Amino acid sequence: MHRLYHHHGESAAAKAAEKMGTMFSMSTMSTTSIEEIGNSTGGPKLFQLYIHKDRGLTDNLIERCQRAGFHGLCLTVDTVVAGNRERDHRTGFTTPPRLTLGSLLSFALHPEWSLNYLFRGKFKLANIIHMTEKGSNIDKSIMNYINEQFDTTMNWKDAEYCVKKWGGPFALKGVMSVEDAKKAIDIGASAIMISNHGGRQLDGSRAPFDQLAEIVDAVGDKIEIILDGGVRRGTHVLKALALGAKACSFGKAYLYALGAGGQKAIEIVLEKMKSEIKRDMILMGCKSVKELNRSKVAFRKKYK
Ligand SMILES: Cc1cc2nc3c(=O)[nH]c(=O)nc-3n(C[C@H](O)[C@H](O)[C@H](O)COP(=O)(O)O)c2cc1C
Repeated sequence: MHRLYHHHGESAAAKAAEKMGTMFSMSTMSTTSIEEIGNSTGGPKLFQLYIHKDRGLTDNLIERCQRAGFHGLCLTVDTVVAGNRERDHRTGFTTPPRLTLGSLLSFALHPEWSLNYLFRGKFKLANIIHMTEKGSNIDKSIMNYINEQFDTTMNWKDAEYCVKKWGGPFALKGVMSVEDAKKAIDIGASAIMISNHGGRQLDGSRAPFDQLAEIVDAVGDKIEIILDGGVRRGTHVLKALALGAKACSFGKAYLYALGAGGQKAIEIVLEKMKSEIKRDMILMGCKSVKELNRSKVAFRKKYK
């Protein structure tokens, strides 16, 4: 839903990622369509899939990504029901924003955002707008959408079906245990994203970083492991790589930038991330990421 942050929408993030030589992942719930992103960027692209009750819609999303030249698919498995986002209840947040006394006050205090929102491209859930009236531009909280449209019966067979239908690099996103990591291998996934959805789903769930070492020890030689969430600094990436992750991904770090200044601001965040990684590797005495290992990280307990 990048359009809520800035009129550049998902294209801003995709183009910034391409420019900086990294991968962009777009959501089922994005405000730019699969085809637009496919046409506007040549960089590596991942599509994040949610399984809807309407399986025709789910199949259609996969087929559109194949036609649009996406390189990988990731299936999010931690959102069969919406987390209880209390701030959304308090603020009355809906997508698109509804006019209430509180939101009007907020619009007045943020005139640049409001003008941008009112006079630039219209908010729409671009990938599903033609498929379901629930995805169209009506007042709807995202929590309601998830609870009405996502398939709560999703199981390992469904995930395996998606792996086969996609037929290319495939990540399960939202894995937090060794047991599930092993099952991801069994169904043929090529990667897992260790993730708690940026802390937006299960209250009290552990941080992905705290699960990393034991999952790497169990399956790190059989499947690619991406650490997702909580990454704000170059040192966070280095710590994850030192524990055995192949890559890191992040959301809020670049969404804040998108809200502040569109594509240019995301590029600044990525530049900073890159320069932090480089500088901190030098400070750690590492010439290559291959030299990062557990000896570089001090633990309070376990995994010495
Ligand atoms: C505003 C917002 C929207 C998100 N939407 C999705 C989504 O549609 N699908 C998904 O798999 N994850 C979604 N996430 C979670 C991110 O993909 C990612 O797991 C999370 O942001 C990582 O944590 P971080 O924000 O600390 O980097 C969203 C996160 C945020 C902040």
